[in-house]
Amino acid sequence: MTQITHQPLLIVDFGSQVTQLIARRLRELDVYCEIHPYQNVTAEFLTDFAPLAVILSGGPASVTEPDSPRVPQQVFDLGVPVLGICYGQQVMMEQLGGRVEAGHHAEFGRAFVESSGSGDHSLLQGWFAEGREQVWMSHGDRVTALAPGFEVLGTSPNAPFAIVADTSRNFFAVQFHPEVHHTPNGRKLYQNFIRLAGFNGDWTMEAYREQAVQQIRTQVGSGRVICALSGGVDSSVAALLIHEAIGDQLTCVFVDHGLLRLNEAQEVVSMFREHYNLHLIHADESDLFLSRLDGVSDPETKRKIIGRLFIEVFEKHAKELGGADFLAQGTLYPDVIESVSFSGGPSVTIKSHHNVGGLPERMNMQLVEPLRELFKDEVRELGRELGLPQSFIGRHPFPGPGLAIRCPGEITREKLEILRKADAVYIDQIRRHGLYDEIWQAFAAILPVRTVGVMGDGRTYDFACALRAVTSVDGMTADYYPFSHDFLGETATRIINEVKGINRVTYDITSKPPGTIEWE
Ligand code: XMP
Repeated sequence: MTQITHQPLLIVDFGSQVTQLIARRLRELDVYCEIHPYQNVTAEFLTDFAPLAVILSGGPASVTEPDSPRVPQQVFDLGVPVLGICYGQQVMMEQLGGRVEAGHHAEFGRAFVESSGSGDHSLLQGWFAEGREQVWMSHGDRVTALAPGFEVLGTSPNAPFAIVADTSRNFFAVQFHPEVHHTPNGRKLYQNFIRLAGFNGDWTMEAYREQAVQQIRTQVGSGRVICALSGGVDSSVAALLIHEAIGDQLTCVFVDHGLLRLNEAQEVVSMFREHYNLHLIHADESDLFLSRLDGVSDPETKRKIIGRLFIEVFEKHAKELGGADFLAQGTLYPDVIESVSFSGGPSVTIKSHHNVGGLPERMNMQLVEPLRELFKDEVRELGRELGLPQSFIGRHPFPGPGLAIRCPGEITREKLEILRKADAVYIDQIRRHGLYDEIWQAFAAILPVRTVGVMGDGRTYDFACALRAVTSVDGMTADYYPFSHDFLGETATRIINEVKGINRVTYDITSKPPGTIEWE
């Protein structure tokens, strides 16, 4: 468990698809919270964690079934506010003496809740101002008898107990999901809950920065830390935070595999060296990578070669430094949340993320992961706090294998040169048109095909390039960005005029699935 110095809120996860959103909403309200699967929430755990409030998530099980998930009774004896959501509401009712019935009451999607009390309960401040409230329902069972002490504050046509409260104990429960976008005023409900629970909003990036710096100093002592800096937001923020904590005990290695975008290596290196005075090794290994990739056209083989070489090169530079005690990684909270998986029975899936897989064990290093408690947008906020320019923080994701997977077929220096230029023109166009922040990721790919064209009075026989731009939330699914034809026409003209070697431009309109975002 994390060493907590903020007022902590515990989210007990029963396996809802949207449990992470509860955490997001609370973090936005400056509340520190952690998600833990219900199996791990034992009496001992509760004593250690000492939550100031507890939220019970939704989940796919039915409390009417034998062996369905519960929380230990201690949750209700802690004397702290509890909020049950959907399955969490049903668990509360069942465990506190009410009744839940299965089936026949399924309700999915939009519903409207009306106030059934005086409407001025402090949990509902800001609600019902305009009559009914839109909420998002997703349940098969429903509560049919309230536990003693509870009253009804809101009802919907299919959920007579849509909002219930036992005000004397600060226990609240709702049948719908206030954390989702389709419950437009859901945030207010969380806001009211945390106010009632006495949170003082101590989770700010400024406070986090101070605490993280202290923790890094305690963990590292006088040890040496090495960090693989990719130039991406996560590793950059992690490196800056560690640098603030331990200064020259940190060395960063920037592995330049020769597959970066136009001017990228120089920009990253000069920013960290000149602006932050950080000890940075610029490992220009492009000859090595490109020679090993020579003649290789299979996508998986390319990825494996790059992955293996990356580790070898990083290890070589670490050894030249005389080794290190710690390896810094920009692991984020979504990578470490243990989520409840009901697919194969109640099992626990632990997602772990290793940017430089295998290295810590091979080199006998411990990990320093100062972003383990943060979501991506919190990392960006911390980056701002540390003075990283917005242009850097808001950059689209860039894959580890770089341009290799945007150059289907064999990779040559000539193709990489052409691709870099085309990509730069394309991104420049997107920025000029003010579209960069609307797009999740955009890039050009150079296709392994030459086509015939006519320029001036002459014949050309040059490469074709494909442009890709997608909207997405997490890269797992994506849709193509609907550029206007004017934009596409102008961009194609600029690329063909400004980039020697390309005479045809196409726009990729495949969503993911069935496509992937990258071409390989
Ligand atoms: P795909 O192509 O799988 O990409 O739809 C989803 C997201 O992941 C990025 N990506 C990678 N990132 N190492 C990375 O760090 C990789 O090997 C890698 N492959 C794909 C891709 O750019 C997109 O954002």
